[in-house]
Amino acid sequence: MLSSSMNILVIGGAGYIGSHVVKTLLQNDHSVTVYDNLSTGCRENLFAAASFIEADILDEARLRAALAPAGRPIDAVIHLAALKAAGDSMLEPERYAEHNICGTIKILNAMTAAEVRLLVFSSSAAVYGEPQYLPIDEQHPTEPTNFYGATKLEIERILAWYSRLRDLRYAALRYFNAAGYDPDGDVRGLERNPANLLPVIMEVALGRRTQLRVFGDDYDTPDGTGVRDYIHVSDLAVAHLAALEHILAHDRDLVLNLGTEHGASVREIYELARSVTGREIPVETAPRRAGDPAKLMASSKAARETLGWRPRHSDLETLVQTAWNVYAGR
Ligand code: UD1
Repeated sequence: MLSSSMNILVIGGAGYIGSHVVKTLLQNDHSVTVYDNLSTGCRENLFAAASFIEADILDEARLRAALAPAGRPIDAVIHLAALKAAGDSMLEPERYAEHNICGTIKILNAMTAAEVRLLVFSSSAAVYGEPQYLPIDEQHPTEPTNFYGATKLEIERILAWYSRLRDLRYAALRYFNAAGYDPDGDVRGLERNPANLLPVIMEVALGRRTQLRVFGDDYDTPDGTGVRDYIHVSDLAVAHLAALEHILAHDRDLVLNLGTEHGASVREIYELARSVTGREIPVETAPRRAGDPAKLMASSKAARETLGWRPRHSDLETLVQTAWNVYAGR
């Protein structure tokens, strides 16, 4: 363990990525309080060793109370609570603006009021938009093609101002495609109505959906299907702690991509899923989804060099197998 034990508020800690972050923090002897409204997170993802506050980020009074508890003060916040369906964000911009932008501003203001000055923020590869070159590094232009990505970029800009004006120290982590489940099987909550590739494939494997709709098979990629950089959620989780330790030790802000630098196609993934699950997984070709680039891959050089971070579980086999273990109830 690099730093002494911290008391950390994990906002969105009952969600898919948040629960993996909580597990990593607890394993490293930090004290954790989860703050979550359970709108997409689930009770099943809560760890007994963490305290839990069921509340919404739009509720300023509850936020202020959570950030200034009667007992041990909060040392840092990890904020992962957001709406994340890129397609929905184009249909319901008001909801995305309110939750992702207003909600985060309320967190920041409650943090400054309570003099909590360390933050790790969940950002996204969606801040970049259509890639102008690959792999995408942190200097790549940021021109989001969906409103979800725009909400994340807006918050990154505000964070830079709070850093200057309020001495907030932050890490904005730009995730590529989070996938897989805790290899130890300690996180078992399934996402409800998933739209992302791997959970959809898992639901097809279980017969909960009739087929996988492959959004486009005529892209300029080796097999014609979309290529993405899939990163194991446990690798993401470790990066949150490493980022927190880094900004604490070096008193500087970080904006980092988290990906593997390797691309995998939709077809590679469903073919591998057929062999891992032993299930048929029917597919049909569907039209391209609006706003989907052909290929997205991260340069994660900065995260490697700054944090000494390396993905350990992000090979495709582990991604698919750990997801299947949970979906198949193993
Ligand atoms: C998007 C966002 C990402 C966000 C993530 C979370 C962009 C560019 N990326 O990732 O920032 O964090 O959602 O929701 O906005 N696919 C199918 N059939 C399906 C589902 C997906 O063929 O039923 C294909 C997609 O076309 C794509 C790949 O699978 O090629 C991955 O899609 P998905 O899991 O939805 O993630 P992204 O759209 O890459």
